Amino acid sequence: MTMVAVIGKLRGGPIPTRLQRVSWIVMSAATAREVIDACRLLAGFSEEPGRTTRTFLSPPMRGVHAYLAAWMQRVGMSVRVDDAGNLRGLYPASSPGRPRLFIGSHLDTVPNAGAFDGVLGVVLAVALVELLEQQPLPFSIEVVGFSEEEGVRFGVPFIGSRALIGTIDADLLERADAHGRSVADAIRDYGLDPSCVGNARANDDALGYLEFHIEQGPVLDALALPLGIVTTIVGQSRVTATFTGSTNHAGTTPMHTRRDAVAGAAEWITAVEALAQHTPGLVATVGRVIARPGASNVVAGVCDASLDVRHASDDARATAVESLRHAAREISSRRQLTLHWDTHLDQGSVAMSPALVTALERAVAAQDVPVHRIDSGAGHDAMIMATRMPAAMLFLRSPGGVSHHPDEAVIEGDVAAALGAGLAFLEDLARAHT
Ligand code: GLV
Ligand code: MN
Ligand code: MN
Repeated sequence: MTMVAVIGKLRGGPIPTRLQRVSWIVMSAATAREVIDACRLLAGFSEEPGRTTRTFLSPPMRGVHAYLAAWMQRVGMSVRVDDAGNLRGLYPASSPGRPRLFIGSHLDTVPNAGAFDGVLGVVLAVALVELLEQQPLPFSIEVVGFSEEEGVRFGVPFIGSRALIGTIDADLLERADAHGRSVADAIRDYGLDPSCVGNARANDDALGYLEFHIEQGPVLDALALPLGIVTTIVGQSRVTATFTGSTNHAGTTPMHTRRDAVAGAAEWITAVEALAQHTPGLVATVGRVIARPGASNVVAGVCDASLDVRHASDDARATAVESLRHAAREISSRRQLTLHWDTHLDQGSVAMSPALVTALERAVAAQDVPVHRIDSGAGHDAMIMATRMPAAMLFLRSPGGVSHHPDEAVIEGDVAAALGAGLAFLEDLARAHT
């Protein structure tokens, strides 16, 4: 069956025969290799030689945009970068005035990242559009490569998707990175206009949002399942706790007179780990500690410690954050330190759209792949998009459950199954919107 015939099916023809489905699978398999190769190539666009680090609108993002924009144009999309730095490719519908399906994920990375977190979802979306062979559907598709999801550069995540739902405010634009450059400066440095960020907001004609993403955890791998359909994305809180004592000489200051900010932070970090170990379903992480002035022969006067807390229940998460704040206060007062508590994120858990979850289940079942529902412990752009439109996510198994690490991987057959499920999902939607 040619792709044109596939599109005939997408336009609402009879359900494809088993033989036709086999043909889709062959095409998806060839494309899966290209998807993986593209993700590995894009991992080379980095702020650091020899490892992948790409934060909000840093210079290597230009290479990522150029590569993906050229591919989008080749497959019939018009491309722009909005003023929040999101790469957006629009594949027009069969006629004007039709609704729009968003498919996307993020193009930024954590430091020393793998090649698939975020990027896979964008590359897979472009590959899916390529499989349509320039034949329009009864709805347009907008592929979005979000500029920022990880929260690495400014301590707040989801800058790209917040722009799409229209919730970027002046406070966020003024937030500074470690070098004192604000979000607005970063946007300007990239040649964009922060005063026009409002134009990135999606119109109200959206059918929904679909995101492909690696699971980033061990569940699917342990069950030997290629795909998982996300039902809920757990909530998360992010805080910086700053302990301030006094800087002094490491050789001459007696132990009993010290006000050591690092020692106070260390005691608190142990309390963070203990609380999470003893609270079912809670995960809590201090992933970044900065001691100032930061010399081995100086008692540190200031220590910033990041805190990331997640739980499927928003109440349980709020209780945990409050208890950790209380512990930080108690430790600080006992050690004669002062505490500054800066909350950057308090994001509730988010349910995916039941209708789109059911549609994804049908699409996965059509690949002869077991249907499995899963919660996401990682945060995703889908949780932000879900506040404006129905949202759904399809997870691909993460071998070894490894993510936020250079060894992150995907299996080619799983990528092919995801592409097949993506086509079947579009077919379903096309039937419903003809
Ligand atoms: C995004 O990767 C997160 O921190 O969940
Ligand atoms: Mn990530
Ligand atoms: Mn991600």
